[in-house]
Amino acid sequence: MKWYPLPEIQDIDKPFIKKVKIADKNICIVGYEGKLFAVSAICPHQGFDLSLGGCENGKIICPVHGYSFDLQTGKGANDFIKTYAVKIKDNIVHIGTKTVWDDIKQVFNK
Ligand code: FES
Repeated sequence: MKWYPLPEIQDIDKPFIKKVKIADKNICIVGYEGKLFAVSAICPHQGFDLSLGGCENGKIICPVHGYSFDLQTGKGANDFIKTYAVKIKDNIVHIGTKTVWDDIKQVFNK
């Protein structure tokens, strides 16, 4: 897992959705009901920006056609979005992305 610090993410106690670009990926950092989540910012339906949407019932909702995706699992009704690991270290939010080696290790640990 490669971790990316995001010192620009502040006030995480309040609800928020902020889009960041990490390793060429557009990612939504979401503060929702006191927890942090990181999910892809690209709606799989027609590619619109999920960071312009809102959250309800533990899901991020696309502002265009209303498809929704679970913040924890990324699951939607017919599709899914990628989720990322989140941690706070030294009071700074960090997002984790899997490396090729993580995928290889996962194959051999099965
Ligand atoms: S583009 Fe997101 S629901 Fe259609």
